[in-house]
Formats: sequence, structure tokens, C-alpha cells
Amino acid sequence: MINFKGTMDNFITDALDGICAEASDRPVLCALSGGVDSAVCAVLAHKAVGSRLTCIFVDTGFMRKNEGDNVMSLFRDTYEINLIRVDAEERFLKKLKGVTDPEQKRKIIGEEFIRVFEEEAKKLGKVGCLIQGTIYPDIMESGGDGHKQVKAHHNVGGMPLNIEFESVIEPIKMLFKEEVRDCGRRLGLPESFVNRQPFPGPGLAVRCLGELTKPKLEILREADAIFCGEIEKAGLQGQIQQYFAVLPNVQSVGVRNDERCYEETIVLRAVTTDDFITAKPAILPHELTETIVKRITNGVKGVNRVVYDFTPKPSGTVEWE
Ligand code: XMP
Repeated sequence: MINFKGTMDNFITDALDGICAEASDRPVLCALSGGVDSAVCAVLAHKAVGSRLTCIFVDTGFMRKNEGDNVMSLFRDTYEINLIRVDAEERFLKKLKGVTDPEQKRKIIGEEFIRVFEEEAKKLGKVGCLIQGTIYPDIMESGGDGHKQVKAHHNVGGMPLNIEFESVIEPIKMLFKEEVRDCGRRLGLPESFVNRQPFPGPGLAVRCLGELTKPKLEILREADAIFCGEIEKAGLQGQIQQYFAVLPNVQSVGVRNDERCYEETIVLRAVTTDDFITAKPAILPHELTETIVKRITNGVKGVNRVVYDFTPKPSGTVEWE
């Protein structure tokens, strides 16, 4: 279903006009997450208001390998967008010390994200407009526009900020995901950004079970980069909708250099799905799996075992927390 009339080029022209009219001559702020929705919004807003746009990227410490640097180099160096990176890893880990309950972790991360964003926004002084990457499924899933609520983790209107903005602009709120991708392509965003697999707001935190620590996150990040890299090298990324590593916080006995070792386990999760409401485990070629296991157990210090998650959704969810 397409919620706008005409072509994507017409949509872009109208969106730019809309942002210009709404922002008038005021400064504009955008939270950049590295996902395709906020990226498209940032590029649209930059085209519309130029240097009056400032983007804030909060690095929670739960990003994938090199993600923060990639976001910075694309938006600051290539698009020359005013972009502030907030390195908040220590702050998040401090708040999460000793926390193991999945819902508690999500809640703390969500709240801390908002506090960090608010603090940075306040440093900028008066900012009239906030640009948000709300898309049409967010509105549907949150029960807006006459739809029944199915999920709570996408909230319409975005973050509950304690900052008064004169206006909130949601330029892509009538688009479905594929339309957002199309829009991104037409705006010149690289395919690696446009075609990104979904990544949850709390990031690697929901894939690192038990208490979150820097060494555990580092192991997960490395294993995840190897797994994703191999899937992409094999050209399978178009056939598998989501693939990632999980650190289940399970240690087991193994053998390394003829000696007993007691190390972490990595779970590989790869699913095929049309809508993420249900999902099936992807069946990977055996040779590829062998390569991945070898690379992870040889290359990621502290991992001696790799297992594959064959669970469909239901009964499992895609994520582990
Ligand atoms: P589950 O685990 O619920 O995931 O089967 C379905 C899809 O939603 C993503 N997901 C999230 N996305 N914020 C997000 O933006 C979240 O808190 C969140 N939790 C899960 C998940 O990666 C999968 O694509």
C-alpha cells in the first residue's frame, strides 16, 4: 500500500518543501541512530535546511563493530552534516551494573538514551524543531491511525523528551520500509546503509545475556562481525532477513592447545521472514558454517564453542531478550 500519491521523486520534492515550510528559519535537530529511517530523515532535513540542521548520534556502547565510525564518516565527512557524537558507553554500563533482567535492561537503556539526548540538545541552546524518523508501520503498530496496538516498543512521536520543541516534523511517516529504502537510494545513501538489516534500539545489549560488561560486549561484537561478514561474503544477505551473534552467558569446558579451557559460547541466529511477526531459522550451507565456527573459535579470544539457534518464531522471538 502506498500512502502518498505520485512518484518517489514527487514525494521527495514535497517532503523538502514541507520541512522548509515547517522549520522556517529555525534550527533543526535530528537523532541519528545509524538505521535507515533516521538516516533518510537526516539527509532530507539537510537538503532542506542545510547547516541549520544538527544531528546527534548517541554511542551507547551497544553498537556493532565500527558502526559509530561508519556513521560519523558518512554523515560528517561525506554529507558534511553537523553531527555530534556522544560517547556514552561508560555511562550506560554504570547504570546497568548488576542488572540482569531483560525488561529492566531495556527500560534503563531507553531512559538513559533520552537523558543523554536531552543533555546534548540543551547544550545547543534553543532548537525549534525536532525531526523524527517515524514510519507508517510504527503508527500502525502503536495503534495510531485507527489500527489496533500490537507492539509497544515502537512509540509514535518517538522519545518522551523533557524538552519543548515548537514543532516535531515526521517527514517519512506515511512511508513503508521499502519506500523509505527507495527514498534513501534516490537521496544517494549507499546500499550498505539502505539495505541494513533491522537492529533493535537497545542494540547488542539484548543479545548479551546477563550483566552487561565491556569484555562480554567486545567478544560479542567481534563474533558478530565475523558472522555477518561471512554471510555477506557468501552473498546471502538478500535471502536472510536478519543474522547476528548472541552471547548467552554460558561457559563450557573445551580444549585448546592440549589444555582444558573454560570459555564463552556464541549462538548464531539467522532468520528468514516476511514480516518479523513469524520467522524461520535460515539453513546455512555446511561449509559456510564450518568456516564461521573456525573463525570465531580461533579468532575471538574467550570463545571455545559456537551453536546454531534452530528455533522458529514462535516459540522463540528473533532476539533473545
Ligand atoms: P522479536 O525479537 O520481537 O523481534 O521477534 C522482531 C523484530 O523487531 C526487532 N526488535 C526491535 N526493534 N526496538 C526496535 O527498534 C526494539 O526494542 C526491538 N526489539 C526487537 C528485532 O530485531 C526484529 O527485527
